[in-house]
Amino acid sequence: PAADLERVTGLLRDVPDFPSPGIRFWDLSALLADGGGLAATTRLLASAADDADVVVGIEARGFLLGAAVAHALGVGVVAVRKQGKLPMVAATRSYDLEYGSATLELPAEVLRPGARALLVDDVLATGGTAAAAAELVEGAGAQVAAVAVVLELPALHGRERLDGHPVHALLAR
Ligand code: PRP
Ligand code: MG
Repeated sequence: PAADLERVTGLLRDVPDFPSPGIRFWDLSALLADGGGLAATTRLLASAADDADVVVGIEARGFLLGAAVAHALGVGVVAVRKQGKLPMVAATRSYDLEYGSATLELPAEVLRPGARALLVDDVLATGGTAAAAAELVEGAGAQVAAVAVVLELPALHGRERLDGHPVHALLAR
């Protein structure tokens, strides 16, 4: 795990003033593009809940990691999508962004009631995205085993919006 974490840390990039002035953008492109880096990230995220029955990946940056983690755990992956992409929707949940709001949807009839779901995303910032996804999972009668992210920004207190669900962040900045 120590070597894995070192590899992840070394491949994470931060870009000042993107997408707008004053915002620091955390970019996982180099980490995902590196075979060892992707493997290390996948192992570390999967360890958040190795008894999970299913992984929930959050559009869009949570998709790549979510599928990798699901494969590592030997379980399936459910894609929580931005509004308007799914033909059959179990439930919809809106959340606030820095400017405006966004909406996530859970696909119908794929999340088994009682399942233990591991939520996966790249970054936990204000927590709006992860909280909305967690509410969708619980609304379907499943449990949130944990929320696993590569990076947490503790100054934004996202963890506090997650109703006490375990948060497993590889790094904090
Ligand atoms: C980013 C990031 C997380 C979310 C974190 O996604 O990938 O999902 O923001 O922010 P929060 O904790 O304040 O909600 P974004 O909405 O930019 O979309 P993308 O993943 O589709 O690029
Ligand atoms: Mg995202």
